[in-house]
Amino acid sequence: MRIMLIGGAGYIGSSIAHHLLDRGHEPGVFDNLSTGSRQAVPPGVFFAQGDCGDGTTLSAALKAFRTDAVIQLAASVRVEESVSEPAKYYFNNTTKSLTVFDTCARSGVADFVFSSTAAVYGEPDTVLIDEQVPTVPVNPYGHSKLASEFMLKDIARVSGMRATILRYFNVAGADVKLRTGQRTKEATHLIKVAAEVAAGHRPHLDIYGTDYATPDGTCVRDYIHVMDLALAHELALTKPGLPSETRIFNCGYGTGNSVREVVNAFGEVLNHPLATRDRPRRPGDAAALACNSAKLKRELGWTPNHASLKTIVETALNWERKLSATPGT
Ligand SMILES: NC(=O)c1ccc[n+]([C@@H]2O[C@H](COP(=O)([O-])OP(=O)(O)OC[C@H]3O[C@@H](n4cnc5c(N)ncnc54)[C@H](O)[C@@H]3O)[C@@H](O)[C@H]2O)c1
Repeated sequence: MRIMLIGGAGYIGSSIAHHLLDRGHEPGVFDNLSTGSRQAVPPGVFFAQGDCGDGTTLSAALKAFRTDAVIQLAASVRVEESVSEPAKYYFNNTTKSLTVFDTCARSGVADFVFSSTAAVYGEPDTVLIDEQVPTVPVNPYGHSKLASEFMLKDIARVSGMRATILRYFNVAGADVKLRTGQRTKEATHLIKVAAEVAAGHRPHLDIYGTDYATPDGTCVRDYIHVMDLALAHELALTKPGLPSETRIFNCGYGTGNSVREVVNAFGEVLNHPLATRDRPRRPGDAAALACNSAKLKRELGWTPNHASLKTIVETALNWERKLSATPGT
């Protein structure tokens, strides 16, 4: 299958590109390189540089690649920034995704996957979140993605596109063969920041809140290895739903790990403790969030291969070391 990854030069998109190649598919990448990097695109893979808000350029790339299916990953991804610059998020994530959905529908793309997020659920009362939990985002990032979901459903309904929305929980780790990983500058994701501390690029990891009602007092989140997430995209396309239908699947393991557990996993891999600093709680951080992925397992037959915190931490750290040892990676 010829699968165009819009935003495919970023962390998750480049990981999906490698996964698809491994599985005998043909990925292509369309990206404006605003946060992504050309080196992240696997050698020999079709690449077009462009902004996904430019329907004419996108449509030409879809045609040139003879696209069967599209995965829309292109977005701005910093929750904190979305609070201070909401317009940027509604423009880049929502308005431009509208152009992507419309352009793909008009170009006859049969199968479509949209990268959504657990942020659409906000701060639910339930710890284990399934797809029926009400969507009540608490920041512009979550709103920008939820608005995109509504638009995709309506456009798929009238165009006949088979659409799948994947709501990712906390994506972490790197390709086990270290062909790609997270290059994000000034990242705020816990495991990326911890890997930077472990690799000596930051002095310590801040732990925000140690008095939550969780077993060790720190926040619990559901971390999913990026290559298991890549598999979910492949399954969404190779086991599509019905024409005009939009399916929604949560992507995570259902277990959840606390910040302290993540810190301890780094300590085990490093053979010495990770430097940390206890800080007050941040406003808006829920105590514990975990993903119920029963639907993804049941309907798409998703079976994760890397569901261990140790693997996530080891691959994240090995990737971080590779990044610093090989400038320009
Ligand atoms: N990383 C996570 O934990 C996480 C969790 C939930 C959802 N997501 C979603 O996954 C997707 C990918 O995230 P990521 O972590 O790989 O981020 P990333 O910043 O590494 O990748 C985003 C890619 O999109 C490109 N891009 C951005 N705006 C564009 C535009 N207007 N036109 C063309 N290309 C554009 C960037 O250059 C980059 O290559 C995003 O949609 C994000 O919201 C990520």
